[in-house]
Amino acid sequence: MSDPTPPGWTLQVARDDLSRTRRRALELAPLQPGEALLRVERVGLTANNVTYAVLGDSFRYWEFFPAPPGWGTVPVWGFAEVVASEADGVGVGARLYGYLPTASHLRVRPGRVDERGFRDASPHRATLPSPYNAYALTGADPAYDAAQEDLQVLFRPLYWTSFMLVDWLVDNDLLGARSVVLSSASSKTAYGAAFGLHRQGIEVVGLTSPRNTAFVRGLGCYDRVLTYAEVDRLPLDRPALYADLAGSPELTAALRAHLGDRLVHEVVVGVTNQEAAVAGTLADTGPAMFFAPDQMRKRIGDWGRPGLDRRFAESWRAFAPVAATWVDVVEGAGPEALERVWREVQAGTADPRAGHVVVL
Ligand SMILES: NC(=O)c1ccc[n+]([C@@H]2O[C@H](COP(=O)([O-])OP(=O)(O)OC[C@H]3O[C@@H](n4cnc5c(N)ncnc54)[C@H](OP(=O)(O)O)[C@@H]3O)[C@@H](O)[C@H]2O)c1
Repeated sequence: MSDPTPPGWTLQVARDDLSRTRRRALELAPLQPGEALLRVERVGLTANNVTYAVLGDSFRYWEFFPAPPGWGTVPVWGFAEVVASEADGVGVGARLYGYLPTASHLRVRPGRVDERGFRDASPHRATLPSPYNAYALTGADPAYDAAQEDLQVLFRPLYWTSFMLVDWLVDNDLLGARSVVLSSASSKTAYGAAFGLHRQGIEVVGLTSPRNTAFVRGLGCYDRVLTYAEVDRLPLDRPALYADLAGSPELTAALRAHLGDRLVHEVVVGVTNQEAAVAGTLADTGPAMFFAPDQMRKRIGDWGRPGLDRRFAESWRAFAPVAATWVDVVEGAGPEALERVWREVQAGTADPRAGHVVVL
């Protein structure tokens, strides 16, 4: 059994300046009956984690792993091991995948424990979106592959969104569009969706920054790749849908001006452009935010949870070997690496080919 009480630490970011970080000791008080202690083991960091912080207040992401006033613990996805347990059915040594803090440990209160894993039933998480509270046992997860842990750490939450976005678009006959335009086309979430659409013969256009154009062209899942300054080259002979991952009001305005009534629908998927999100312009752009858990809920109603998981696993198995050729896993170790990678990803200077995984 691993030592349940090694010196713990937590990495916090200043909520009003996400480039400011600090590390603090984490008190690991004895567990109460019904609790378990997870040791955070392997996590990924992408722009999505930065968006959790940017939207930390409005979308309640700061509430998952509470921090002192003015500071936030950024949620990350990855693997953890149960190192101590006072919870029925949760054994020490169990390995889980789920939503974790940038910290050495997480105390949870396992509820609805079954062979697939459990949910953290801690009172402060009770009203937070349910998919973020689930911890899946690796042994019972149909999409788990021990040889692909880094890919899972990096892509799993993003590919769920890509998969559900494609499913929602196809389910709704592209809302009348015949072409899908994705911004921040170099992001994993965008190219995961492009991969799914392209496979179904749907035209996909990628918009990206000049520095990432060659990378995006090389992926081969976009029919056409344009820089943000080239929006006026979008074809006008077919209705288009804009899936916005950049969250840039200027870009949205340029697209609307050029496409006019050829732009039949807009959906906001992400906000890699942090300034716009911080300034609150997201709310002013009009279209609704795509929230993968909403479409998941619909499909759980249609197919049941096992049916949804099976379809996701099939799609993931097609995507994972391709994605493996699109990303170079860059592995760091320890809290120092986590802090350094946070700063790099938050600054927006990360190479889109680099997939940052940190082993803690
Ligand atoms: N709605 C949902 O449920 C959901 C779920 C998952 C992800 N998302 C969102 O999808 C977006 C992409 O996340 P990801 O993890 O897939 O990204 P990622 O793979 O880390 O991609 C990073 C890309 O984002 C752009 N970017 C990064 N930092 C930037 C900055 N400071 N300013 C402007 N652009 C920047 C760049 O793309 P370009 O040069 O191509 O613009 C960069 O190559 C995030 O906003 C994320 O929150 C939403």
